[in-house]
Amino acid sequence: MRQNIRDLKEGDVVDEFYAIQQCDRRETKQGKSFLTLVLTDATGSVSANLWDDVDRLQKIFESGKIVKITGKVGTYEGKPQIKISDGRSLRPGDKINESDVRMGSVYDPEEMWRELEEYRLNVKDPYVAKLLASFFEDPEFIKEFKVHTAAKAMHHAACGGLLEHTLGVTRLVLTMAERYPKLNRDLLTAGAMLHDVGKLYEMQGSLSTEYTTLGRLIGHVAYGSELVGKACDKIEGFPEELRLQLQHMILSHHGRLEFGSPVLPQTPEAMALFRADETDSHLYMVFKAIGEEGEQPGDFTSRVKALETALYKTEAARKGGIYSMAYPAAGKKTAKPAPEQPAPEPAGQPAEEKPGEEPAAQQWDLFFK
Ligand SMILES: [Fe+2]
Ligand SMILES: [Fe+2]
Repeated sequence: MRQNIRDLKEGDVVDEFYAIQQCDRRETKQGKSFLTLVLTDATGSVSANLWDDVDRLQKIFESGKIVKITGKVGTYEGKPQIKISDGRSLRPGDKINESDVRMGSVYDPEEMWRELEEYRLNVKDPYVAKLLASFFEDPEFIKEFKVHTAAKAMHHAACGGLLEHTLGVTRLVLTMAERYPKLNRDLLTAGAMLHDVGKLYEMQGSLSTEYTTLGRLIGHVAYGSELVGKACDKIEGFPEELRLQLQHMILSHHGRLEFGSPVLPQTPEAMALFRADETDSHLYMVFKAIGEEGEQPGDFTSRVKALETALYKTEAARKGGIYSMAYPAAGKKTAKPAPEQPAPEPAGQPAEEKPGEEPAAQQWDLFFK
């Protein structure tokens, strides 16, 4: 049986495949080299360290690679941590399933995409519709958007995370538009769907996400605004006021200057988008922390840095695992639950098993690079 990260506990002897999310070489005060790592699989992430044979294993433990890890689980600051004794790269014939090792969104990307498409196709304003089509009908964009992560570490840091987060934010703004009819529904739909579009260029890599040079020098907030501005320019007669408001929504969606927005939200739609973005990302972090640490002793999680607090492990949140988003949306029929976890209400169908579809190890290695 697979040793899932979520189930690791002190004393376990580990001999399993995990993905290397991060690997750093450090030195003790005495000058001894060691490696600190973050390992992931579909159920979560765990820290690990390595004290022996550092030079040889550092070459194997490259970010983004799947490796076999041998070691023993201890604890550090109340959380499991693996002391690695050995590791190796994948070999031909290794039997691994992508869905086990890959830190991916727990929701089916095709279903999320279909739902997002429904919202997009409901847009009435012809200019907004054209603008959205220029992104969401581009095959290259679609391919990338379905698998991209929304973050390096903070929230929705998973393959498909950007799509999951975008859908979460779009659902929220549309709910707001129902409750507050003065909000411009089309503007909100476009703002939500495009607010993090710059992340496609800000970060790269599915297993181990790294910031690009563009990401570090410009960032997704400014670049997203630029992309949208350029796309508006290509649409004949695109109203200047509409373009201004859309770019403003993207530029202000982090809500505060110290969080990377150059301007504060100054329109009703920008305010709504900022709050929806914040809600979706924060609740993700809340449920993930409680889901990952739910079975460990104590009523509170360890401190979640981005939220500046520890979290109380409520009964319902513990049961929900790492799920943040109710899926499917109310009124929809299908859902794909994550491996070995019941989906949140309403419950979905068991995941389909497709025997004989395990690809060769080398292929996965290539896929993850
Ligand atoms: Fe953002
Ligand atoms: Fe966002």
